[in-house]
Amino acid sequence: MELLEGIETRKSYRAFKPTPVTRETIEKILRVAGRSPSYTNTQPWEVAVVNGQKKAELGAILHRLAESGTPGNPDMPRPGEWPPELDKRGKEHGARRYEAMGVARDDRERRRELSLANYDFYGAPCVLLIFIESSLTSWSIYDAGLFSQSLILAAHGLGLGTCLQASLGNYPDAVRSLLGIPANKRLVLGISLGYPDNEALINQYRSNRAELSEWVRWVG
Ligand SMILES: Cc1cc2nc3c(=O)[nH]c(=O)nc-3n(C[C@H](O)[C@H](O)[C@H](O)COP(=O)(O)O)c2cc1C
Repeated sequence: MELLEGIETRKSYRAFKPTPVTRETIEKILRVAGRSPSYTNTQPWEVAVVNGQKKAELGAILHRLAESGTPGNPDMPRPGEWPPELDKRGKEHGARRYEAMGVARDDRERRRELSLANYDFYGAPCVLLIFIESSLTSWSIYDAGLFSQSLILAAHGLGLGTCLQASLGNYPDAVRSLLGIPANKRLVLGISLGYPDNEALINQYRSNRAELSEWVRWVG
């Protein structure tokens, strides 16, 4: 796949086939993503690859916490409020996504189910959790973002689908405890990985983008 085409055609998938992804394939993706640039080549990203029984246990724990309404305690701060123009884009994304699935605006139960599907990794056979040392600053989070983009593009290049999920960082203590990850590792987010189910309605949805004129300022 040509590079620009790969960047342009990548999208988030939210339904996967159960087909496992081989360790060899995951290693290939990780090795390519590891070529991402980072602040003075510090390569701050650390990845837990969670498969099989552990993935099922992790999903069950996270799903239970979310379903019971347990307040999240993510390691990554969220803005209290988004600036209005960003908030508008986020709301539009949510609305279009539900619309694409034929879910009515007031169908709270179905919306809740779709939101909880995050914690089942949207049916993906594998989830990658991205950590960095807790003493690190925004620069390393930036690097983890570059790494994540490389990773999802590499997966796309191999015919795999991904979904970046901040929601998987909502209960970091439960994740660390189950996976035996030290407390000084900050959970950035999770990435569900698998072969996309192209028949699923949710995967027909393609997100919009703002016009250049909304975010580019030409100077000179
Ligand atoms: C930092 C970050 C966190 C995200 N968290 C979630 C999430 O928790 N659940 C989800 O379904 N999608 C999540 N997404 C996916 C975005 O909704 C998606 O990237 C955006 O709507 C653009 O769509 P596209 O990826 O299909 O181009 C996240 C994306 C990013 C970059």
